[in-house]
Amino acid sequence: MSGEKRYIYLDHSATTPTDPRVVEAMASYWNDEFGNSESAHAFGRVAANGLEQARQTVADVLNCHASEIVFTGSGTEADNLALRGVAWAARQSGHGCHIVTTPIEHHAVGHTVDQLHDLFGFEVTRVPVDEWGRVNPDQVVAAIRPDTVLVSVVMANNEVGTVQPMVKIGRVCRERGVLFHTDAVQAAGRLPLELDDIHVDLLALSAHKFYGPKGVGLLYVRRGVSLIPAITGGDHERGRRPGTVNVAGAVGLATALRLAEQERVAESARLRHLRDRLIEGVLSSIPESRLTGHPTQRLCHHASFAFRDVEGESVVVALDLEGIAASSGAACAEGELEPAAILTAMGVAPDWGTGSLRLTLGRSNDEADVERVVQVLPPIIEQLRSRG
Ligand SMILES: Cc1ncc(COP(=O)(O)O)c(C=O)c1O
Repeated sequence: MSGEKRYIYLDHSATTPTDPRVVEAMASYWNDEFGNSESAHAFGRVAANGLEQARQTVADVLNCHASEIVFTGSGTEADNLALRGVAWAARQSGHGCHIVTTPIEHHAVGHTVDQLHDLFGFEVTRVPVDEWGRVNPDQVVAAIRPDTVLVSVVMANNEVGTVQPMVKIGRVCRERGVLFHTDAVQAAGRLPLELDDIHVDLLALSAHKFYGPKGVGLLYVRRGVSLIPAITGGDHERGRRPGTVNVAGAVGLATALRLAEQERVAESARLRHLRDRLIEGVLSSIPESRLTGHPTQRLCHHASFAFRDVEGESVVVALDLEGIAASSGAACAEGELEPAAILTAMGVAPDWGTGSLRLTLGRSNDEADVERVVQVLPPIIEQLRSRG
C-alpha cells in the first residue's frame, strides 16, 4: 500500500500480490496479443499458442500431460468442477452415490458436497480429524464403501495450516479403486506437488495464492477420469470448462507456478524460520494462548493461534490500527462470531474458538515484521481481556 505508514501484510493465505515478473509475462496478452484463442486467424493462433505454452509450463511443473490441465476461473471453480463433475459422471454411469470428505474443507468443497447431498441425493461421510486437524488414513479406508465415487481431502487447511498425510490417503484410494481429489490451493509454492507420489486423480490450484493473478485457477484431471461439467457452452478446455479462455490469466498462473516452484525450497526454509520465531514469540508472551493446527505438519508460512476469552475479530481490528494486516480464520468466515467450524471439528472449546488469529507470512516479510507483531500483540490481547 502507498502512503507514509509502513504496513505489514500477514495475510498471504487470503491472497498474495502479483509478482511483477508475472505481470510482465501477462502484459502482451492484454495488449497486442489479445486474440480469442479459438479464432482461426493470426490473432487467435498467437493467443492459442500462448495458452498451450502456459498449459505445457504447468504440466512440466506438475509432471503430468498438458491435456490433463483445465484452466478455470478460480480455485473454487476447480473444486466445483472436480466434485460435481465426478459425482454427475458416476450418477450417469450408475457407479455409485457416496462421497468421503472431511469437516475441515474450504467452502468450495464443503458447500459443493452439501449441495450434492441436498439436491442430488449423494450420501456423504465426513471422516473426523484429530485435535491438530489431521485425518487418519485408516479412517478414510474404513469410510470407503463399494458405492464410493470420490474421496476429497484438502492438502493443507487454510485456517490452521495443517498438512494432511496425502501419500497414505492417496495410496489407500488407489488400492480401493476410488478417485481421489485434493484441494491444493494453499499448497502451491509451499509443498511439493508430486502427483504420482500422492496418487491424486484431481487437484485444484488458484493463481492468486502463489503470486499470480486473481480470477484464474486450474484443475488437474488424470487421463481417463470422466467429468460432467456444470457449465455448458462451447468446446473450450476440451468441453470441461466452456467459456472464452482467460489467456493472460493462464499465462500468469503458469509463470507464477513456475517461479513459485523454482523458489520453493529456499523460500519455504526462510518462511519456516520466521514462522517458528513468530509462534514462539506469541506463545511465550501471551498467557492463555495456544497454537491451532499441527505443531510440525503445518504450512511453512502459517501461524494460527487461539486466545482464551478474546474475539478474533477485535484482534484483527486492533492489529489493523497498528498497520498489520491479519485474519481471524478464513477471510470468507469473517463477520461470524461463532467459533470457526474447523476449530469445533478439532475439539477446541468455544471460549477459545472465537479468539482465533491467523498470521500468514510471505515474500515481503522479514524478521523485523515478526518482532513488531511479537511486540504489539501482547498489549492488544491484554487490553481486550481487561475490557471483558
Ligand atoms: C483451501 C482453499 N480452497 C479453495 C479456495 C478458493 O480459491 P479461490 O479464491 O481461487 O476461489 C481457497 C481460498 O481461500 C482456499 O484457501
